[in-house]
Amino acid sequence: MTQEELIEHVRSAHQHQFGENAEIMSIAPARVNLIGEHTDYNDGFVLPAAIDFYTCVAGSKEDGTNVTVMALDYDNDQDQFVTNSKSISKSTNLWKNFIRGAFFILKDEGYDIGGCTLTISGTIPKGAGLSSSASLEVALVSTLNELFELNLSKLQIALIGQRIENEFVGLSCGIMDQLSVACGEEHKALLMDCQDYSLKPVKIPHSFSLLIINSNVKRELADSAYNDRRKACEQATELLGISSLREFDLVTYEDVKEQLPPHIEKRVRHVLSENDRVLKMTTALEDCNAAAISELMKKSHASMQDDYEITVPAIDALVKIVKSQIGDRGGVRMTGGGFGGCVIALVPQKMAITIQNAVAKSYEEKTGLKASFYLCNAANGVYTIS
Ligand code: GLA
Repeated sequence: MTQEELIEHVRSAHQHQFGENAEIMSIAPARVNLIGEHTDYNDGFVLPAAIDFYTCVAGSKEDGTNVTVMALDYDNDQDQFVTNSKSISKSTNLWKNFIRGAFFILKDEGYDIGGCTLTISGTIPKGAGLSSSASLEVALVSTLNELFELNLSKLQIALIGQRIENEFVGLSCGIMDQLSVACGEEHKALLMDCQDYSLKPVKIPHSFSLLIINSNVKRELADSAYNDRRKACEQATELLGISSLREFDLVTYEDVKEQLPPHIEKRVRHVLSENDRVLKMTTALEDCNAAAISELMKKSHASMQDDYEITVPAIDALVKIVKSQIGDRGGVRMTGGGFGGCVIALVPQKMAITIQNAVAKSYEEKTGLKASFYLCNAANGVYTIS
């Protein structure tokens, strides 16, 4: 489904269900991270790009305090609640918690929001690690922002999205996903400094395609393993008496690393070496230096595999297959939180199809799983239409 078809689909479902035209529609992209994994919640650097898969949220204001939400992708399942933070409780149904969480956090921050009807649908593969959740949060908060004239900036919208995850859904994620779907730019990745939220767009050279390959490994217990990794980093900051891992780089870390137990020491090593790779990758992209891109992505994957221990055998196999095809003409690594999900490959445009064929041939043989392919483009961040 194209972006235009998605918007039409949501617009007509809203009109059909609620008997009125949507006043506001927000469309937010997905994201893929080129490099910089598990560095965001350590005040570090990341280099994601918003990509052209979308979530669309249509909304109309209603008198009173009742909210009715319809999720087209869950068989038109509906949720209803009133916009009073004290009475907004958690649901056992995950999709509903993203919506309830948005109202809960906005109310908690003192914003005046009343009743409304909302209709939601999207084209982002769910559970693939391409930030369908962040996209939903940002599209939803953007719609509420316009409907109730809250005057939120894109950064504020992203931070509210992060609070929904941290405080309502229960994932201690950083800011990368929400900020990239809010602020993405066409044809560009965003170098993000997660310490001060500053952003620098970095052009992705035309000669490369962004090929995402879904391992289709079920990401079981991924959230609890993710939270564990974050805890290990927090333990490290306590033991080292610092406020965040950003206070060290690979050189200064040499002097203090012996103060840490080995299982924490290697987690920190990943974070600091990954920060360094993000900055080098920015230069490599600007210089269109395929060999450097190749090397940095290879090292990033190895670091996630050995030091941060967030890859799984099927993902490692997938990376190997792609690597054997592209050599140093492009790069490949796992992307996102880990424990399954997708691989991102920056490949010479003319090789994209050959690589897909090679993966289709050997990945199933090696793992018993079938891969899915998403050849995508870096896209603009959230926007709103009326
Ligand atoms: C998930 C989180 C992000 C980030 C990545 C890992 O996508 O939501 O905040 O930590 O994992 O880089």
